Amino acid sequence: MAIVESTLTADVTTFRVEAYEKIDYTLQYVDGVFDPANTQLADVYRPWGRCLMVIDDVVDDLYGERARAYFAAHDIELTVYRLVVDETTKAWTTVEGIIDAFTEFGLVRKEQPLIVGGGLATDVAGFACASFRRATPYVRIPTTLIGLIDASVSIKVGVNHRKYKNRLGAYHASSTVLLDFGFLATLPVDQVRNGMAEIIKITTVGDRHTFDLMDAHGEALLETHFGHVDGEQHAASAELRAAAHEITYRSIQRMLELEVPNLHELDLDRVIAFGHTWSPTLELAPEVPFFHGHAINIDMALSTTLAEQRGHIDATERDRVLSLMSRLGLSLDSPHLTPELLERATAAILQTRDGRLRAAVPAPIGTCVFLDDVSTDELVSALDKHRTLVAELPRGGAGVQAFVDEGLPA
Ligand SMILES: NC(=O)c1ccc[n+]([C@@H]2O[C@H](COP(=O)([O-])OP(=O)(O)OC[C@H]3O[C@@H](n4cnc5c(N)ncnc54)[C@H](O)[C@@H]3O)[C@@H](O)[C@H]2O)c1
Repeated sequence: MAIVESTLTADVTTFRVEAYEKIDYTLQYVDGVFDPANTQLADVYRPWGRCLMVIDDVVDDLYGERARAYFAAHDIELTVYRLVVDETTKAWTTVEGIIDAFTEFGLVRKEQPLIVGGGLATDVAGFACASFRRATPYVRIPTTLIGLIDASVSIKVGVNHRKYKNRLGAYHASSTVLLDFGFLATLPVDQVRNGMAEIIKITTVGDRHTFDLMDAHGEALLETHFGHVDGEQHAASAELRAAAHEITYRSIQRMLELEVPNLHELDLDRVIAFGHTWSPTLELAPEVPFFHGHAINIDMALSTTLAEQRGHIDATERDRVLSLMSRLGLSLDSPHLTPELLERATAAILQTRDGRLRAAVPAPIGTCVFLDDVSTDELVSALDKHRTLVAELPRGGAGVQAFVDEGLPA
């Protein structure tokens, strides 16, 4: 729909334009996306007879051979661009390298690059697609838990700018997302944990039933990579796999329900911004950045304590949330979480959220309320209370493998 009105009088000459763009994309489950018997991926590229795949280098080491064999089996010529990126190089310069690869490949208008990797790869390469000729369509295959249940469900892409998380970016949906949870088999356990923080996010403020499932199966899901490998304590049973499917399916569904009416975030009261009020400043504050999941978890944990202090949830519910986080090895606190940082982070998020805090907190588990009027004094008193609570928990609320370099292979 588009409206163009023109006004022409003695003193006013104006054209007014109102137009809406359709956003249309598909998330499709595939069991074995690089299995030649599954044609979903080949179907996209057959019309061009070729494909430019931008793939996270670690994922290429693990799955590149399978991908090459897949395209060869379907007689589609494959060009591979190995993307080396971490949180500190999630930056515009990395986007430029991808854009150079598009140019070298001779990407034709409407031809869709394939992006394979975690949230980092899809955010950075997705932003390259948003920027290249202003909007280049693309296909995503997420390979991390964060990618599968969050980053590739969303239409947001972008990069960091200096110490500012995702400061440059775009709303640019991929035409197709192929969801293959089999990738979780090789995902390091610290990355599985990282993704579980996003599931805690959506369930704590959006879906009580799925929170209960996480509470019941959390440790087993972590150890077995959501039912994809046997662990020492837990086997990857069919029952566990079913719970994993229910949790991830419902998380995606709930996120879409909450986000789709507001894809361009015109309404800044966003339920799934739970954990994203102070964490954008916290995540990049240490010399070596936090894992995204740990940074948001610290924010969620503090927000939950604040919610109890405000009377939105009772102490038992608060402790259930904190206990689940702690049992999964997520960070609930950090020496970097200082009153000074909270004040700085509040000032930063007020700019992003049009002058209002809009801090999403559980009220109670499975539902959400937004807090606008949280003073620095109240925040500092919540932090004090939070510290006494987490002191009782294992590791004093510190996370397991909370920082990016602790997760890298030796
Ligand atoms: N766009 C969004 O809405 C959105 C939502 C959430 C997070 N994010 C962004 O996502 C980023 C984090 O993404 P992530 O957590 O997926 O991390 P990531 O992309 O850095 O991947 C984590 C690590 O796992 C490796 N890896 C990926 N898939 C693997 C597999 N199947 N097996 C073995 N190793 C594998 C990667 O090489 C990397 O070393 C952050 O920058 C965050 O801002 C974006």
